[in-house]
Amino acid sequence: MSGKVSRRDFLKAGGAGLAGVAFSALGIGSVLGSETEASGDGKNNVEELVYVCPVCGEKAENFDALQKHFKEKHAQLDAPASMALHINGADVEVYVEDHWTLRETLQRAVGLTGNAKEMCDRGGCGSCTVLIDGKPALACTTLAVECKGKKIETSEGIAADPKYRPLVEAYVKYDASQCGYCTPGQFTVAKYILTKYPNPTQEQIRTELSGNICRCGTYSRHVQAIQEAAKAIKGGNS
Ligand code: FES
Ligand code: FES
Repeated sequence: MSGKVSRRDFLKAGGAGLAGVAFSALGIGSVLGSETEASGDGKNNVEELVYVCPVCGEKAENFDALQKHFKEKHAQLDAPASMALHINGADVEVYVEDHWTLRETLQRAVGLTGNAKEMCDRGGCGSCTVLIDGKPALACTTLAVECKGKKIETSEGIAADPKYRPLVEAYVKYDASQCGYCTPGQFTVAKYILTKYPNPTQEQIRTELSGNICRCGTYSRHVQAIQEAAKAIKGGNS
């Protein structure tokens, strides 16, 4: 996919998904930073994608300008480097530092808020689980630079895929999301389960979700939701 899609559209597509709101096509363009501004109607609108210095917040017109700004204002720091990542079906050029985890990169450079939000940030809870080349992986213990050339899927991308609409609806129906902290990771693994098992058993679901901790105790609801979604999706692999 090419061309810029506003961060607002990107977040709206996935973020609204679990609340049962209609989905829109999901896509992202070259996002190094973006700006959210309050409009007169009280909603937050992204006026345009902008390049923001992660040190001082100054805006730059483009990536070259951001690098120039770094040389002039932050000469003691490494100038930003960009890297191509493939996220939710789109090629994205992101600003990334070598030590950034994938979770940090999804949050800081792409602006995602589902799997990317900071939870334990040490591989203990599973809330940051994304799919990398179709397999669950913890974004908080994976370096972004390790993901070059790999296919990354987050809950936002899965929720926006019409094929997985039944999964979203089943999550809503069974109230599988309470506080919601663990939900993006559980939801992402749910997609993995549906691609692996056409008709997953309780045991298979519980085993696959065993690394995802829910302090609200929604465990049995994920089983119900995933089994119902499996009937609708009929185990078709993507
Ligand atoms: S935030 Fe990654 S495992 Fe908890
Ligand atoms: S819904 Fe609250 S932590 Fe799982």
